[in-house]
Amino acid sequence: MLEVDPRPARIRAELGARKVIIVTGSKGGVGKTTIAALLSLALAERGLRPLLIDLDVTDPNMHVVLGVDVESQMPGETKGISPMKVHGVGFISIAPYTKARPAPLRGEDAVNAVRELLAATDYTGYDTIVIDTPPGLGDVNLELLRLVPDALVVVVTTPSKLSKDSLRRHLQLLAESGYGDPIVLYNMSRGERPGELSIPFDGDLEEAYGDPLKLMETKAYGKVRGLAEVLLARLR
Ligand SMILES: Nc1ncnc2c1ncn2[C@@H]1O[C@H](COP(=O)(O)OP(=O)(O)O)[C@@H](O)[C@H]1O
Ligand SMILES: [Mg+2]
Repeated sequence: MLEVDPRPARIRAELGARKVIIVTGSKGGVGKTTIAALLSLALAERGLRPLLIDLDVTDPNMHVVLGVDVESQMPGETKGISPMKVHGVGFISIAPYTKARPAPLRGEDAVNAVRELLAATDYTGYDTIVIDTPPGLGDVNLELLRLVPDALVVVVTTPSKLSKDSLRRHLQLLAESGYGDPIVLYNMSRGERPGELSIPFDGDLEEAYGDPLKLMETKAYGKVRGLAEVLLARLR
């Protein structure tokens, strides 16, 4: 099929030249956004230059985790959108444009917003891209996987029976779409299980949202920092 939209080619060129981690999960509220934020802070602490992109375009809330006031702050624009900077992490989100308004993007419109944000971003100076996504395998996630087929996919779930049931279907869908080798993280776990990568339930997180320094003092951050090693070893 002839591709008439110039944006996918630009996105593939920019993201293809960098290491990309896509944080997904079959359910909402399992900790995708939290883990994407902690992971990005951990990568910056390790001396990498991470760019964190909030692609949950209908319900972006990464800025709340990072403490970025999108009502008053706007990213700069020189060669495209310059990421905002939070504690060594570059940050891109649709939120500064939609402000507090809900963005009822569906299907083609959501895909369009994703392409626009990814194509307009100035990636200069960033070596690792962490992408936070909406739950499930809807249009946004499928588009993203098409655009960055060699990304490392991190699937966040919780240890509950219901989450595990959704996880099984999610992994099957990923495999059927050609992404058979994701890393599964069990978040909010109340104990370690052999062979599973887990992040503990951490009651201090709630208090720490909005303050990267406080986030970096939490137990959950300590665990994610350790897991960053495992993820980096898997990055192509
Ligand atoms: N490891 C954790 N320990 C305790 N609470 C957590 C943990 N991870 C996430 N949460 C809580 O779960 C809720 C949803 O987290 P969030 O990162 O927004 O999930 P998602 O992006 O998957 O919807 C948040 O209110 C947060 O306080
Ligand atoms: Mg989220």
